[in-house]
Amino acid sequence: MIAKFGSSWLSVWLLLLGAVLSSCRSSDAGKTEAEPASGPSSAPAATSDAIKVGLIVPFSGPFASLGAQIEGGVKAYLDTHGGAIDGRKVELLVRDTTGLAPDVAKRLAQGLIVRDQVDFIAGFALTPNAMAVAPLATEAKKPMVIMNAATSSITTKSPYVVRVSLTLPQVTAPLATWALKNGIRNVYSLVSDYAPGADAEAQFKKTFEAGGGKVVAADKVPVNNPDFAPFIQRIKDAKPEAVFVFVPAGTQGIAFMKAARERGLTEAGIRIIATGDLTEDQQIDPMGDSALGVVTTHHYSAAHASPENEAFKAAFAKVAGTQLRPNFMAVGGYDGMAAIAAVVHRLGPGKIDGDKAIEAFKGLELSSPRGPIRIDPETRDVIQTVYVRKVEKRGDNYYNVEFEEYPAQKDPGK
Ligand code: PHB
Repeated sequence: MIAKFGSSWLSVWLLLLGAVLSSCRSSDAGKTEAEPASGPSSAPAATSDAIKVGLIVPFSGPFASLGAQIEGGVKAYLDTHGGAIDGRKVELLVRDTTGLAPDVAKRLAQGLIVRDQVDFIAGFALTPNAMAVAPLATEAKKPMVIMNAATSSITTKSPYVVRVSLTLPQVTAPLATWALKNGIRNVYSLVSDYAPGADAEAQFKKTFEAGGGKVVAADKVPVNNPDFAPFIQRIKDAKPEAVFVFVPAGTQGIAFMKAARERGLTEAGIRIIATGDLTEDQQIDPMGDSALGVVTTHHYSAAHASPENEAFKAAFAKVAGTQLRPNFMAVGGYDGMAAIAAVVHRLGPGKIDGDKAIEAFKGLELSSPRGPIRIDPETRDVIQTVYVRKVEKRGDNYYNVEFEEYPAQKDPGK
C-alpha cells in the first residue's frame, strides 16, 4: 500500500519535473530537452551499456554563447569519435540553465541524476551554477566535469568535481608577472562583481604587489554591466599606467572596449591588460581595431599553432558551422568530453562507478588543442600552459597571438 502510494507520488513528481524541464528549454525552441549528440543522434535507441552525459549550460540571456560554445566543443569530440567510447554509445542530455541561475542549475542536475540516471554531469559555464550543483555531486557520488567555471574554490566544494578548463588565479598570476617584467608599476583593477572577479582581483594584487607594483584602485562592476563609460572615466582620472580587467566571456568584453574606445583610454596613455576572457575569440572581431595591442593571458587562442588545434577547429566547424569561431569554452567542452572518454576507457566495461571514475580522472594527461594538460591528482584541477598574447590583425580578422608562455601552471589560488 505504502509502496503503491509512494510510486504514484513519484510519478506525479516526475511528471512535474518533466514539465519544469521542458519550460526551462522553451527559450531555445530549436533544441529538444534531451538532445543526443550529433554522433549518436543517428544511432538506434541507447543500449544499457550506453554512457549518459548530462550537459548543464546556458543557452539564453547574455551568456547564451557560452552554452553554444561548450555544446559545440562536446559535439565536435563526439562527432570525430563516432559518437561512442570503446563501442559504447554516448547519450548527451543537454539542459539550459537560461543563464546565471543557481536554482535552475540545481533542479536540472537533480533531474539528470535522479530521473535520467546519467553517468556524468558536465558543462558549467558559470561559477554560481557550479557551486549550487557541487553538493548534489557529493550526495549522488556523481563525477562533475567543469568545462569552464573558473573560480578557484569550485574543486574544493565536492570530491567529485574535476576541472578541465582554467582558474582565474591560474591565468592572472602570469599577467601580473609579465606586467612587472615589462616596466608596468601602477595598475587600476576592474573586475566583474562575482566570485571569479574577486579571484582575479585578489591574485593580480598579490602577485603584482609582491613584485614591487602597486594596485592604485580596485573597482567592481555588475556582472551584466550595460555601460562602462563612468568606470572608464574614473580610470582616466586616476592616470594609472595600465588597467587590469576581468569580465566574463559573452558580451561584456565588447561593452568594455566600446566605452574604452569612445573615451580614448589608450590615447590617454593607459594600457589595457586582461585575462583572455576580455578578448575571447568570439568577441574579438566585433571589437575591431580598438582591441589592437591589448595584452592578455589565457590558456587558449584560436590562433594557437598546433595540429591538435587545426583538427579541433575543423571538427568544431563541422558540427557548429564556420560562422562561429570556437573559443576557450569550446575547448573546455571538447577536452571535458575527451577526459570522460579516457576515464570510461580506463574503467572498462560495466556501469560507471563514481568513485572509481574520479580516481581515473586524477593524473589524466591530454594533448589538448591548447597544448598539454594534466589533471592534478591532489586538487582535481587542471595544470596547463598559460600564454601571453597580443591582439593582432590577420587578413580581415583579429586574433590573440601568443608570444610568451608560462608552462605547467597550477592553480595558485588554493
Ligand atoms: C565563471 O563564471 O566562472 C566564468 C564565466 C565566464 C568566464 C570566466 C569565468 O569568461
